[in-house]
Amino acid sequence: MVNSMIRNILAPLALAWMACSFVNAADLSDLKTVTNWQRVANGVWRAELGSLKGEIRYTDLSAAAPKLDALNALSDSCFPFEKGEIKFLTDSQNQAMVRIPTDEDEVLYGFGLQLDAIKHSRKVMTLNVDHWSKGGGRTHAPVPFYISSKGDGVFFNTARFLKIYNQVGNRKDSLRNPPEVDRNPPADEPQPGPWLAQPPGDAVEAQVNGPGMELIVFSGESMLEIVQRYNLFHGGGAMPPLWGLGFWHRVHATFNADQVREELKDFEDRNFPIDVVGLEPGWMTQSYPCTFEWQTKRFPDPAGFTQELLDKGIRLNLWENPYISKSSRMYDAMYPLSGSHLVWLGLVPDYTLPKARKLLTDQHYEDHISIGISGYKIDEVDGYDFWLWPDHATFPSGVSGESMRQSYGLLMQNMLYTDLFKKRNVRTYSLVRASNGSASGYPFVIYSDAYNHKEYLTGISTSSLCGILWTPEARSAGSDREWLNRMQTVCFSAMAQLNAWSSGKKPWSYESVTDDVREAIQMRMRLLPYLYTAFADYHFKGIPPVRAMILEEGFAGGPDEIIVGKLDSEKNPYGKDRRIETTDQYMLGASILVAPFYEDQATKRQVQLPAGRWYNFYTGEFAGAGEIITVTAEALDDRIPLFVKDGALIPMLTEAVNQSDRAIGHPLEIRWYGERSGTGELYEDDGSTFDYERGDFRKRVFHVTRDSDGSAQLQTTIEGDENLEMFGTVQGLKMMTR
Ligand code: GAL
Repeated sequence: MVNSMIRNILAPLALAWMACSFVNAADLSDLKTVTNWQRVANGVWRAELGSLKGEIRYTDLSAAAPKLDALNALSDSCFPFEKGEIKFLTDSQNQAMVRIPTDEDEVLYGFGLQLDAIKHSRKVMTLNVDHWSKGGGRTHAPVPFYISSKGDGVFFNTARFLKIYNQVGNRKDSLRNPPEVDRNPPADEPQPGPWLAQPPGDAVEAQVNGPGMELIVFSGESMLEIVQRYNLFHGGGAMPPLWGLGFWHRVHATFNADQVREELKDFEDRNFPIDVVGLEPGWMTQSYPCTFEWQTKRFPDPAGFTQELLDKGIRLNLWENPYISKSSRMYDAMYPLSGSHLVWLGLVPDYTLPKARKLLTDQHYEDHISIGISGYKIDEVDGYDFWLWPDHATFPSGVSGESMRQSYGLLMQNMLYTDLFKKRNVRTYSLVRASNGSASGYPFVIYSDAYNHKEYLTGISTSSLCGILWTPEARSAGSDREWLNRMQTVCFSAMAQLNAWSSGKKPWSYESVTDDVREAIQMRMRLLPYLYTAFADYHFKGIPPVRAMILEEGFAGGPDEIIVGKLDSEKNPYGKDRRIETTDQYMLGASILVAPFYEDQATKRQVQLPAGRWYNFYTGEFAGAGEIITVTAEALDDRIPLFVKDGALIPMLTEAVNQSDRAIGHPLEIRWYGERSGTGELYEDDGSTFDYERGDFRKRVFHVTRDSDGSAQLQTTIEGDENLEMFGTVQGLKMMTR
């Protein structure tokens, strides 16, 4: 049985380590020192080790060049390691290993979109692209980047399988090993500390399945600053079109045009917002493998149908997987440009080849983009050995089967984004099921076939640490309450999507919660100005729009403890500890904390509020300050728990709209929470092109001060006033806290 005593394991460990002093060991004598560090910008250094000849680096595939000005606008800091501390080894098997020292109390976060945990200290992880099943590192986006509580971040920049020993294992020649402890000492022999099943290691040791790697080190004054740097280094975060932030509904895989029309009529009749309809595999003549050509038995007039929807303000998104069927008109031309193995008997094009890219993007332009298709859902780029090509598959470019698997999702994003959208100065918001390092600038959101609500919440936090966007999409539910909880979660995420490809569910399918579900979607629509501004912060400053609590100032730890494992010869023979983490709440935009109800916390849960005063979003009531509070669905009228920081100003539409287009020019209210004077921003641009990159955007900056008589004054300053407004005029300041 687990010991009920909860303690923070770090303090006793620190004592044990202080007692340690070895004198005779030769320190890491067989390892080489990484010496060729180059400073790229404030707080960013890069170095190569081993050979990178012919290797794909993730940075080769990033959406844009580093935003050097924005990087340099962040704090300047020193290289976060001692000189010569980072060591490496290349062996005769053509594998490179790097060793990055860690302190005894250092906590490691990140390593991609992991759905089981955010903290990965003292773990062995395999960072291979895979669908999500058991964890261990394999995931849809195993981004080889970690952030340490000590103030550094390390990115392993090579598209290879990577095995990471995070503070696991002790070298015999390390000078920093903990002291030995007798596990069964006589009573009169005190030990330097408790005996530990796994003596903590003093480094991250990463082995790459290739001859070398590039290391990129980021430092910062906070973990948020390190994440900002990572995103800015990869060109800044993605900026979706405004419509991408509305409500998405993917219809059943076999739907035809008339069924889509009927479904849309239902949305209208029931007063449910919708911006994007997703068509699943049945829209094309054949799928698994695919043709990418319209199935005219279901969609007799694709151009007319797409335009009909656009006229209603609704965009179409098309599902596809990349594997090409014999019945595709591209098959013959693509054959010599594809890999040695098939997937679902379809060709696997080598999209590192310009010719292959051109073939696909020309066809996509002709059949989809030219008629107004807004984006794609790129499926099945994450399967592992069983689904995709084997490690030994070959590709005409010479890129290994392994590197191709690690980067295929990224390659697809790079190709579609660059050659179809960016080139035409049109933004997209799309989906993809696998990604990897350097992806910050891609407006592609990851989803999964896994469906555990708690894991989906964890994904919201972990994705924010590595330049990845993630949707905890709703597909169906076992009860009305579960449906409501899932729909609320997804409405307060990077993409509000119902994926009914198999279930055929609609937002109103669970009758008793229909009004509550509508209210959640409508609240998302009202928050469009706030959400759009959050994405602008992602793009220009690298601040993730949806973020893990550990990136929030004043979130000191949360229930960040270890439950000490009690020795039990059958159930726990090594007395291993259990770790508790806070991954079921997160930040959305500058100042809203979201704490959804889920699973066994379906109607009652705890929320850990960071330091400072926090307020109920709906009522403005004081909720707590730096403490754990309990919230119930009953007290919140079945709405999702949302809390707002003291002094926050939230720009919102005065009422809900059913399409994002109707948010353009719509009047605003500015909500002011708490007691402190506040500042808030509203970012505006044309909502659909890349002209913002040339400076065609404006910012309204709101300031509120309280007068001595308790009344408040709202002042607005405008940056970029020469550019057009996106949203309407501010109707008034709503003082939420009196
Ligand atoms: C799955 C995908 C689902 C749905 C389905 C259609 O692979 O994850 O979301 O698109 O394919 O066949």
